[in-house]
Amino acid sequence: MRDGRITITQFIIEEQRRIKDATGDFTSLLNDIVTACKEISNLVNHGDLIGVLGQAGTENVQGEDQKKLDIITNDVFLRSNEWSGHLAAMASEEMEEISHIPSQYPRGKYLLTFDPLDGSSNTDVNVSVGTIFSILRCQGDCQNPATGDFLQPGTEQVCAGYALYGPSTMMVLTTGNGVNGFTLDQNIGEFILTHPNLTIPESTQEFAINASKMRFWEPPVKRYVDECLSGSAGDRDEDFNMRWIASMVAEVHRILIRGGIFLYPLDEKMKANGGTGKLRLMYEANPMSFIVEQAGGMSSTGRERIMTIQPDGLHQRVPVILGSKQEVERVVDYHKQHD
Ligand code: AHG
Ligand code: MN
Ligand code: MN
Ligand code: MN
Repeated sequence: MRDGRITITQFIIEEQRRIKDATGDFTSLLNDIVTACKEISNLVNHGDLIGVLGQAGTENVQGEDQKKLDIITNDVFLRSNEWSGHLAAMASEEMEEISHIPSQYPRGKYLLTFDPLDGSSNTDVNVSVGTIFSILRCQGDCQNPATGDFLQPGTEQVCAGYALYGPSTMMVLTTGNGVNGFTLDQNIGEFILTHPNLTIPESTQEFAINASKMRFWEPPVKRYVDECLSGSAGDRDEDFNMRWIASMVAEVHRILIRGGIFLYPLDEKMKANGGTGKLRLMYEANPMSFIVEQAGGMSSTGRERIMTIQPDGLHQRVPVILGSKQEVERVVDYHKQHD
């Protein structure tokens, strides 16, 4: 731009020149995703003025009550990305099966997975929410993609990102070459590079966990949180602070800006019900792990690196422990000692 500001479009074009085998397809696909996020930002912003808050009265495949905005934003993402010819198929937290590209449109070489509205329990109370997405290459028959084509480990992601609809709307992206943050300038409708090369501080004194589940935690998690709570009166050098927003996008963003650790661990109640975690591998855990690792942080289930998990289902859930490296290493170490 004339004043030296870098727009997301310019940034994406320059990134694409770096990606092996990438053609204009990738730039164009990311532009469509950016447009979808701008549209969602506008919807979330207007809230009750346009009647989009409240329950939809339906349940999704995750067994969650859907908000009206869960359904509307899912539709925005599908409509923005289905027509361009860059995608072979899409998958979302809100849809049981993969979404095929309608027959009137050409099919392309990428697969898109997304959580259209993360933290949707926060919409009605006007707290930050977001959108998370991940791009994979279609490695099978791109004209006739199947669920199995999506089941690639997180290390195969070409790009991951999130939009955060907070006091400002932001977009944070990685294509495997660091992490960059952009802020939406509402006056010109463009995201501008405001947070180049985001890196997570290695150590931290802030943790995030839903403490209402304390009685179900496994011993390594309980030990870690107990130590944080004891702080300098116990085995840690510093006292710890705690946050819980219940929007993963907002938690990860805070960690990218000032460090910290986020835990949504496996617990005894989940295990008793045959559960494997709360957060979804394909729509939440993998894209966020890619971003966190690219920012110098670490992401684990407590027992293995999230991005090397071979997915066995589209809606697979995993424990998530991510953020500042030293803290995640400590929790992983406690898992090793207790298992
Ligand atoms: P979503 O709104 O997409 O279903 O995701 C909600 C997720 C995540 O954003 C957040 O960290 C977590 O669920 C909150 O869970 P609790 O309500 O159990 O705290
Ligand atoms: Mn949900
Ligand atoms: Mn979510
Ligand atoms: Mn969601």
